[in-house]
Amino acid sequence: MAYTARDYGNLVGMGGFSETLLKNHFTLYQGYVANTNKLLDSLAAMLKEGKVGTPEYAELKRRLGFEFNGMRLHEYYFENLGGKGAIDKLGRLGKKLAEDFGGYEDWERDFKGTAAMRGIGWTILYQDNITGRLINQWINEHETGHLAGGIPILVLDVFEHAFMIDYGLKRADYIEAFFKNVNWDKVDSRLK
Ligand SMILES: [Fe+2]
Repeated sequence: MAYTARDYGNLVGMGGFSETLLKNHFTLYQGYVANTNKLLDSLAAMLKEGKVGTPEYAELKRRLGFEFNGMRLHEYYFENLGGKGAIDKLGRLGKKLAEDFGGYEDWERDFKGTAAMRGIGWTILYQDNITGRLINQWINEHETGHLAGGIPILVLDVFEHAFMIDYGLKRADYIEAFFKNVNWDKVDSRLK
């Protein structure tokens, strides 16, 4: 039941993202898939060997949130790219963003503001699975700050590896390039 890295080669050629940057990013993603498999195998072996409760077991358990989320968040991220970047503000998601944030532009300002925060991690537009409310959330590294049960609707990688090759320290320019390539149909389809 090992995880398999998905192929996002279709994204090569999209505006604002060099082939070098994307290919490096795919390689990094493949590393998270490999490490997730490795960790799960090691933990399963330790269970059989009676090593539950050892410091080694505890450290691997802690590490799983980093590797697994590093894998899965990249999949959300690459899969919400490759579009034309134009949201239908009168569509299902456009209307809901306006409703929950007091206007589409307010949502976008909040999302971009979250993405521009100092530090490495992710910005995720989450939907609360209980009430349906939309919330922009900052994730530290890959595993800290997730909303329990929340559905990731739009996922933006703001680790430096996601933009430095093309943009240096100009994170805001990268965020603009990201918005130009969002696949809003895909994003809308994640909405509950
Ligand atoms: Fe990344």
